[in-house]
Amino acid sequence: MRMRNKYRKPTTLRCNAAGSRCSKSVAVWSLVGCLLMLHIYYFVHQKDGKRTENQFRMVHDPQLRELQQVEEENIQIPPPRGKRSPRAAKRRPKRPTTIIDEFLDENSQLRSTFFPGEKTAINPMNDAGNDSFFYYPGRIWLDTDGTPIQAHGGGILYDERTRTYYWYGEYKDGPTYHAHKKAAARVDIIGVGCYSSTDLWKWKNEGIVLEAEESNETHDIHKSNVLERPKVVYNEKTGKYVMWMHIDDANYTKASVGIAVSDYPTGPFNYLRSKRPHGFDSRDMTIFKDDDGVAYMVYSSEDNSELHIGPLTEDFLDVTPTVKRVLVGQHREAPALFKHQGTYYMITSGCTGWAPNEALAHAAESIMGPWETMGNPCVVKSKTFRHTTFFSQSTYVIPLPAIPGTFIFMADRWNPADLRDSRYVWLPLIVGGPVDRPLDYNFGFPLWSRVSIYWHRKWRLPQGWNVLK
Ligand code: DGJ
Repeated sequence: MRMRNKYRKPTTLRCNAAGSRCSKSVAVWSLVGCLLMLHIYYFVHQKDGKRTENQFRMVHDPQLRELQQVEEENIQIPPPRGKRSPRAAKRRPKRPTTIIDEFLDENSQLRSTFFPGEKTAINPMNDAGNDSFFYYPGRIWLDTDGTPIQAHGGGILYDERTRTYYWYGEYKDGPTYHAHKKAAARVDIIGVGCYSSTDLWKWKNEGIVLEAEESNETHDIHKSNVLERPKVVYNEKTGKYVMWMHIDDANYTKASVGIAVSDYPTGPFNYLRSKRPHGFDSRDMTIFKDDDGVAYMVYSSEDNSELHIGPLTEDFLDVTPTVKRVLVGQHREAPALFKHQGTYYMITSGCTGWAPNEALAHAAESIMGPWETMGNPCVVKSKTFRHTTFFSQSTYVIPLPAIPGTFIFMADRWNPADLRDSRYVWLPLIVGGPVDRPLDYNFGFPLWSRVSIYWHRKWRLPQGWNVLK
């Protein structure tokens, strides 16, 4: 016999006289539901519309198509030989030689593959003819005086007022040494180098815009300390150029940020102070200025196990108390942020000192997160190149607003045996196409696109990159 459960709620909605209120609420909720669906549909398709437009250009513009060609690179590990650098020799017996060992070995037969000599230097002052404006990632890059550019771990400021690009970076033109047996390779602080350009290819040396302190050993930027990854942003409200940088001691235990300020992009910058932002340790860092004029600092923290993001104060001279922990437990550093069609993107590296490792691309709807990891953005046939970020490490991404979805990925090919001879790897970065890894927070909607960095031995910017419509 079937027993009726008197406690069971009726499953059908009663819409008789007593239930007329119920039917009204059903109608209201259905309407709300419909509106919500329409809103989501519109939102997704509005983005899709813009994306389709971009995709069309990416596929049909021959110059952009060329940038997206997948190149081959094939580096073979040479057979073992006698002479190895002492550091490389120490590492050898434990395991077979890897391509990273070869890269780090200053006596490797592959040395000139990773660090081509002076003869192949990019010299914008030569009447280069057909070679003008070509980037050759990894080659020595000369400034307009014919001297190798010294702007490592750098960043670019586009100064609207002078319509000039400024490249700031670590001026590392000194001898590399180890402060003690276990310490990382280092160069004494010389200062922050600045170069100016209107075409992103010919760079004029503007000098050292923030100089190391020579005598006062207690000073943050005394030459025996560490000054890395300087980034400069312009503050419209105060009319000042503000520089943020990673400040540390030779053992990387101070883990702080430093702030300096100037009235001019070419300095001199006045060093103000260092601090541990939000009370946390901070090592690799960057600054990102959003379209609304708010600037954010992003830094590796908790012993590089996570990144922290927080807005700067209105004058850009400090952080505000607001901070978010992102990519927690992912051990990422060398953050480089950019924005495309309202979405924030970031490229990061793993944490392996000066040795190259795999880059990852991340995306977020809000700069404060949550951030999702989309996968390795490097596009090249060689697995080795892909897994080592083309033997380099991210430092900055330059937007090219005239070609929506196109950017320049700036990276450093560190040379730990001789840091001053570290090279620059600049490559086209393109946003478009579906991501190649399932995402955690997107509820099935394609909220963002794939980020691709294309390897090229030689490439140049497409015509019209600097002509805003
Ligand atoms: C990796 C960082 O990204 C560099 O800026 C530098 O701090 C090196 N580590 C030092 O080993």
